[in-house]
Amino acid sequence: MADRYLSFTATAPGRFLTARLGLPQPSALNRWTAGHPSLEGHLLHLTAGGPSGLDLAPVLARSGLPTATEAAGATAGSATGSAHGPATGSPGPAAVVLDATGVRDVDALAEVHAALHPVVRSVAASGRIVVLGAPLDTRDHHQAAAQQALEGFVRSLGKEIGRGRTVNLVRLTDASAAESTLRFLLSPKSAYVSGQVIGVGTAERHGGPVDWTLPLAGRTALVTGAARGIGAAVAETLARDGAHVVVLDVPQAAEDARRVAARLGGSALTLDITAADAGERIAAELPDGLDVLIHNAGITRDRRLVNMPAERWSSVLDVNLASVLRTTDALLAKGALRTGGRIVATASIAGLAGNAGQTNYGASKAGVAGMVRALAPRAHAEHGVTVNAVAPGFIETKMTAAVPLFLREAGRRMNSLAQGGLPVDVAETTAWLAHPASGSVNGQVVRVCGQSLLGA
Ligand code: NAI
Repeated sequence: MADRYLSFTATAPGRFLTARLGLPQPSALNRWTAGHPSLEGHLLHLTAGGPSGLDLAPVLARSGLPTATEAAGATAGSATGSAHGPATGSPGPAAVVLDATGVRDVDALAEVHAALHPVVRSVAASGRIVVLGAPLDTRDHHQAAAQQALEGFVRSLGKEIGRGRTVNLVRLTDASAAESTLRFLLSPKSAYVSGQVIGVGTAERHGGPVDWTLPLAGRTALVTGAARGIGAAVAETLARDGAHVVVLDVPQAAEDARRVAARLGGSALTLDITAADAGERIAAELPDGLDVLIHNAGITRDRRLVNMPAERWSSVLDVNLASVLRTTDALLAKGALRTGGRIVATASIAGLAGNAGQTNYGASKAGVAGMVRALAPRAHAEHGVTVNAVAPGFIETKMTAAVPLFLREAGRRMNSLAQGGLPVDVAETTAWLAHPASGSVNGQVVRVCGQSLLGA
């Protein structure tokens, strides 16, 4: 269902009227297209907390944006933030990367303020601010306090910055291991991802050379519930990235599944994912194994707990959680996921924040996040497979078009970008997690919610 309010505020009278009334001011987001794959403008590279041990410059140089670096000679205790574009009078940056990994105490936090305060206003519409932090050092409570402070800082800035601009925090120790993550966050692909804290580990041993144009060429991806909605968008995006996509859906959706598969040059698999032998049937269908497994199929059966019959509870738990566990276990046990494989499961902000009428759905989606966090280290150690989750917020699909008008409007506006996301926003985030260069991203639950006010 079209977001008419967003269209209205894109007009001059609409913007004037809604500003006068103090109503939300969503900006049309700049999303990836083949013709416009990058943000437009330059990237400003700043440092706070002293020189960093990260070798960031070559990674940023490959981001697709010309980089301007703030004056050299940054030393601990001196802010390096009186920043500007590459030439006087030039437009502000399209992206700012603030390396705050060296921030080890409260005093150094002043450098974060000093670095960003002068530039925030000039960051272009739909621009990006990415703050880089270090992992929390549990033996040093001053470092931990200062580094945790960055989370509150990033989330607060995300809520106030406006104009379709996003703010995210990446915790890392190795810049090259974070290349796929930085490329994603510094591109139009991350249009609806804001206020997130993403942990990136060290580089994967078996990672070979990466084809950044067709990263999934020669790989097979299976997407459950891909006949429509978010799943169809995920299938399309993975096919864009070169994957052979298997479109799995229930028998009732067979025709749509075949249509999606035909459009993408993939194949369709008709299967109810709750079948006890679903994992075995997928493995039999793909005797050469698969590289990417996307658990997207999901259902809602909303009722408040007092009115919820057991059947509504169990059907949601079965589709959204039990089948995800069952098929994952079966496919890992059979060695059907190749080394370097990727599993991405679909959680929801309802599972992180809770939602009235969705005790069953919220429980199932929180369970997905729990599975991801617990399984990720083991799956990586034993199978070389990463396990992550996307947690969509309000996404414009048939599922949300069925939500009553008032709740739908609230869902759309109650996030920092003041609009709903599109299926492609979840798909791009999934594609980043499925990327062969994302082996250092494991056990993460990344919200695609425009920084929804619901939940942490
Ligand atoms: P949708 O209802 O449009 O599509 C879901 C697809 O899954 C359908 O094609 C359906 O036939 C398939 N499916 C359902 N049960 C199945 C089963 N037992 N076996 C195989 N396929 C099955 O849903 P939408 O909106 O595209 O959501 C996709 C995922 O994203 C779901 O997991 C949902 O919970 C999650 N999500 C969606 C949000 C939204 O705003 N639309 C927000 C948060 C999470």
